[in-house]
Amino acid sequence: MRYNTRDMAIFLSRSPEETKRFAAAYAKTLRPGDVVLLEGEMGAGKTAFAQGVAAGLGVREDVLSPTYAYVNSYGPMFHFDCYRIQSERQAEELGFSDYFDAGKICLVEWSENIAGLLPEGCKTVTIRKVSATEREIVT
Ligand SMILES: Nc1ncnc2c1ncn2[C@@H]1O[C@H](COP(=O)(O)OP(=O)(O)OP(=O)(O)O)[C@@H](O)[C@H]1O
Ligand SMILES: [Mg+2]
Repeated sequence: MRYNTRDMAIFLSRSPEETKRFAAAYAKTLRPGDVVLLEGEMGAGKTAFAQGVAAGLGVREDVLSPTYAYVNSYGPMFHFDCYRIQSERQAEELGFSDYFDAGKICLVEWSENIAGLLPEGCKTVTIRKVSATEREIVT
């Protein structure tokens, strides 16, 4: 758990749809260049949250897990899945630093695998499984 000096908001989602709606509203608080670390275990709902952010930003394409590509680009947003990143060196070679500097909103799953490459001032969204259908989302 990460503690910030700023206020945190806690939301209890009862379905994937609610998570997406909450994320779409959260997207309105984001500015170009913001980097958002999506934290939570496998199946927590990080990709579902990213889908909601994309919808909130007006992206019409389907947002899928970037399993093979590591990064997918959707208009004003990049979506990273670093689960399979082997090393920060690999991430550097994939040009991650350039993505972070591109002035788009970056959503990053499994950012712990690229901790040394993250820019200053990242935002964090933490999703915790409460039950099969409930998620606690801390922004
Ligand atoms: N309230 C909820 N919010 C979000 N997802 C939920 C909720 N309740 C159930 N789910 C289910 O949890 C799963 C979330 O999957 P998702 O791919 O978003 O997780 P993830 O955190 O991205 O996992 P991974 O680390 O494997 O990428 C989906 O199967 C979804 O249907
Ligand atoms: Mg995912």
